[in-house]
Amino acid sequence: MTSHTPTTPDEPGPGTGSGGDRGISRKTLLRAAVAAGATVPLLATGGIALARDAARANDGRTLTPTPYCDDGDDLTPDQMEGPYFKPNSPLRTSLVTPGTPGTPLTVSGYVFGRNCVPLSGVLLDFWQADTNGTYDMAGYTFRGHQFSDSTGAFTLKTVVPGLYPGRTRHIHVKVQAPGKPVLTTQLYFPGEPRNSTDMIFDPALLMNVRGAGNGKEGTFDFVLNVDGGTGPTHPPTDPPTDPPTDPPSGTWATGHAYTAGDRVTYGGRSYRCLQAHTAMTGWEPPNVPALWAPES
Ligand SMILES: [Fe+2]
Repeated sequence: MTSHTPTTPDEPGPGTGSGGDRGISRKTLLRAAVAAGATVPLLATGGIALARDAARANDGRTLTPTPYCDDGDDLTPDQMEGPYFKPNSPLRTSLVTPGTPGTPLTVSGYVFGRNCVPLSGVLLDFWQADTNGTYDMAGYTFRGHQFSDSTGAFTLKTVVPGLYPGRTRHIHVKVQAPGKPVLTTQLYFPGEPRNSTDMIFDPALLMNVRGAGNGKEGTFDFVLNVDGGTGPTHPPTDPPTDPPTDPPSGTWATGHAYTAGDRVTYGGRSYRCLQAHTAMTGWEPPNVPALWAPES
C-alpha cells in the first residue's frame, strides 16, 4: 500500500480554536425523537429518547422531549476538504477488518433537513487517517461511502484516526442529499488536547463519544440546508420534463446497480458514473453530481 503520512497540516497551521464539549447534540437528538415518531422508544420516565441514548438515560437523568422542530438554526457547518480526498470510494459501511490496527470506533447518527425531517438516501462519503495518522493515497483504505437508510440513519465502523502534524483528531465526510449541494465537513473528538490549538476545529462538529468495550462509540447528527419537503416523506412526483432516450450504452434507470465508470444517458445527455450505487428516484444524473459526471 502506498500511503502518505502528512508532514504538514492539510489545512493552515495551528491557531486559536476553542475546546470543550457542545450542547446541541442533545437538542438535535430530541428533535430526531419527535421527527422519527413511532420508531423511537419511550423511556420508563416517559421521556422520548433514541435507542442509543437509553443506556445513558439509565444513569437517572430524565430527558425532556422537545415538542416541536424549529427553523433549523443550527445547520451543520462546512469545513475545508483538505488535500486527501479521493473520489470513487467503495460502497461500504465498515472500513475495517478483524485485523485492522487501532481502537475500534463506531460512528452513528441521523441526517436531517432544516425542518427536522429525517432524510433517507443521503450520500455520506467518509475518509480519514489510519491509527498512525497516515492517509492511503494509492488505495481506498479508510475510505468508503454509504447512504442513509429509510429513517435517515447511518452507521460507520472504523478505528479512531491517528494524529498527524498540525491537526487535531478528525474524520472527513461529504454529505449530499439527492439533488442537493455537497456539504464537506469534519467530525471531531471531545477531550483532545489539540482541539484548542487547531484553527480549523469547530466545537459544533464535536461528536458525542463514549467507551464501548475495547473501543469507542461516537454519535453525530447532520442537519443539511435542505427543505423538509425534499425528504423521504415527500418524494419527487413530477416526471422529468426531458424524457430519456434509448442510447446504445443504456438509459439510466431506477433500481439498477451502477459501478464507477458506467456510462448512461438521461434526458438526451451522456453521463459517467463516479461512485458505485443503486439508482433511485431523486438521483437522476443531473441531480447528483457526486454520482454522475456529464460527458457532453
Ligand atoms: Fe485530514
